[in-house]
Amino acid sequence: MEKPTLKARIDGCFTFLYDSSKGTVLGRGPRSWCEITVFYIIFFACLAGFFAATIAGFYQTIEEHQPRLQGTSSILRANPGMGYEPMPDMDTTLIYARKIEKERQAYVDSINKVLKAYNTTGLVSTDCTGINETRLDAKVPCRVNFTALTEGCNEANAYGMLEAKPCVLLKLNKIYNWIPAVWDVEEAQTASAVPEYIKKKYTNDRIWVDCHGENPADDDNLGLDAITYYPQQGFPLAFYPYMNQKDYRSPLMFVKFNNVTNHLGLMIECKALAKNIVVDRTDKEGGVHFELLIDP
Ligand SMILES: *[C@@H]1O[C@H](CO)[C@@H](O)[C@H](O)[C@H]1NC(C)=O
Ligand SMILES: *[C@@H]1O[C@H](CO)[C@@H](O)[C@H](O)[C@H]1NC(C)=O
Ligand SMILES: *[C@@H]1O[C@H](CO)[C@@H](O)[C@H](O)[C@H]1NC(C)=O
Ligand SMILES: *[C@@H]1O[C@H](CO)[C@@H](O)[C@H](O)[C@H]1NC(C)=O
Repeated sequence: MEKPTLKARIDGCFTFLYDSSKGTVLGRGPRSWCEITVFYIIFFACLAGFFAATIAGFYQTIEEHQPRLQGTSSILRANPGMGYEPMPDMDTTLIYARKIEKERQAYVDSINKVLKAYNTTGLVSTDCTGINETRLDAKVPCRVNFTALTEGCNEANAYGMLEAKPCVLLKLNKIYNWIPAVWDVEEAQTASAVPEYIKKKYTNDRIWVDCHGENPADDDNLGLDAITYYPQQGFPLAFYPYMNQKDYRSPLMFVKFNNVTNHLGLMIECKALAKNIVVDRTDKEGGVHFELLIDP
């Protein structure tokens, strides 16, 4: 058989696009085109309908102001994580406190990043001074007193670096509707989780936080007696529970190491103390671990 010429091929192509003898476009007659159009209109209408129904069903299960899974049913297992700053480098837990400009700046920036949200006016919050218990159903969150927080650790002293007394900022992660359970004063005296020095001054108005060396040698070089906490040692109960209030800010705490031996790497652990906080170092829950090295 003879091969079709180029002209015959092009003609064939045009005939396919529009065949005047049969009255078809792209090989389909008017009736066929009509049917296929109607089919696709119905098809896409159904698809859109199913999509809308699925989304609507999904939104039914969502609540606007609170998560559906809470407390122990949430994957967070209602155990707050603890975080610290400075952490200029995510890969290391070493806080290397040096006076030299470049490293000091990274240290300061790392803390400023967190404080930025607190150093602002116009937040809707209330003064909770003197409230020593949790505020259930509170619509307005407690105010973090920025002046008190930054009394000993601030930008002016490069968060303690200029004095070779480094400050570390601690924060507990927010968990919706998590209510801390603390020991009452008598219970605390026999609780094994509460260190002796805290037992002496224990009050049941806060989640106490204890920082200490990992080893007795670390404790000696750390100058345990010379640690100060700003604005107080622990997180006040009045800030809990967190209920997604507008302008809520988690309470913060600075730990200032006032008498650390220089040029010596110290291993430090800070723990939050409450009946319903489990300290798990591997999961970074309830406490933090870091190394501190001062090279002034
Ligand atoms: C806090 O805000 C003031 C004024 O906006 C600013 O000068 C200061 O550097 C800020 N401090 C921190 C720690 O962000
Ligand atoms: C809260 O503190 C006040 C004053 O410090 C005290 O009188 C009161 O008993 C405390 N309340 C509780 C529940 O501990
Ligand atoms: C904030 O703390 C400072 C210093 O502790 C104190 O003088 C001031 O009265 C506090 N402000 C408020 C609103 O509580
Ligand atoms: C600082 O620590 C040294 C020993 O490590 C101690 O002799 C000295 O009294 C401490 N100073 C203060 C103010 O605690």
